[in-house]
Amino acid sequence: MEYKNIHIVYFSPTHTSAKTAYAIAEGLGSDVLLESDITYKMPEKPIEIPDDELTVVAVPVYGGRVAETAMERLRVFHAHHAPVVPVVVYGNRDYEDALLELTDALTEAGFVPVAAGAFVGEHSFSRKQMPIAAGRPDAEDHEYAVCFGVRIRAKLETLKTLADLPPLKVKGNFPYREKGPSTPQAPVVDEELCTQCEYCIDVCPVSAISIVDDRMFSDPNSCIKCCACVKECPEGARSFDTPYTAMLHKNFSARREPELFV
Ligand SMILES: Cc1cc2nc3c(=O)[nH]c(=O)nc-3n(C[C@H](O)[C@H](O)[C@H](O)COP(=O)(O)O)c2cc1C
Repeated sequence: MEYKNIHIVYFSPTHTSAKTAYAIAEGLGSDVLLESDITYKMPEKPIEIPDDELTVVAVPVYGGRVAETAMERLRVFHAHHAPVVPVVVYGNRDYEDALLELTDALTEAGFVPVAAGAFVGEHSFSRKQMPIAAGRPDAEDHEYAVCFGVRIRAKLETLKTLADLPPLKVKGNFPYREKGPSTPQAPVVDEELCTQCEYCIDVCPVSAISIVDDRMFSDPNSCIKCCACVKECPEGARSFDTPYTAMLHKNFSARREPELFV
C-alpha cells in the first residue's frame, strides 16, 4: 500500500504531542507533509481525508482520557477508509483509556487505525524544583518515534489494501475511566513580573486570558490547566499551584518508555 501524503494533526499546548507527531512523520517519510494544528482553534469547516493520505493524530492525555478540547476539535475530521495512526502523549504517570478512546473515535469518524502509540512528554505540571519527565520527548524518544514511523511504513508496504488488516488492538478499557468533577482553577500572575506583553493570550488554546481592569485575567471556568501560559511566559510571571505536582514528582519520576501497537 502506498500513500501520497502524510498529514499530521495535533492539539499540543506545550508542544510535546506536536514534536512526537513530527518525529513519527520523519520515520514515515514522504515528499508531502500536511499539517493541521488544532491547538488554538477549531477548524472552520469539516475536513475530509482522502484514502491515499496517511494521518497521524497526536493529542495529550488529561486525567487518563483524551484532552477534552482535542476531542471536540477532532470531530471535524472525517474519512471513508483512510489509514490513521492514533497517538497519545502523557506525562509519565499513565495514559489509561486515552489511546483506546482516541482509536475508537477515529474509527467512528471513518478512519482505519493501522498502528498506535503512547509516548511520554514533559508533564504540564512539571516545574524546575519538581520535575516530572522534564525535557521529554528527548533524543531517545525522538529516535523511538522515528523508528515507529519506519515500522508503520514497512507494515503498510506488505499490504495490498487496508481490508487485509485485522482490527488494531490497543491498551485501555471500555467504558472509559470516568472523568473527575470539574475543579475550576487558573494560573496566577505575579504583578511585579508581568509586563502585559500579552503573549499568554496568544498561547492560550481556549482564549481564557484577557485584560480586565488593567490586569491579566485568566478565567478559571474556561482554563483547561494546560500550563502553556506558565511555561511560555517570557518573564516567568505565571504559576499554577497544584498538590499534584509534588505527588507526581514523588511517585512518577521513574522513566516510562513509549508503548507501541503495530
Ligand atoms: C489537566 C491535565 C491532566 C493531565 N493528566 C495526565 C494523566 O492522566 N496522566 C499523565 O501521565 N499525564 C497527564 N497530564 C500531562 C500531559 O499529558 C503531558 O504533559 C503532555 O505531554 C502534554 O501534551 P502537550 O505538550 O502536547 O500539550 C495532564 C496534564 C494536564 C494539563
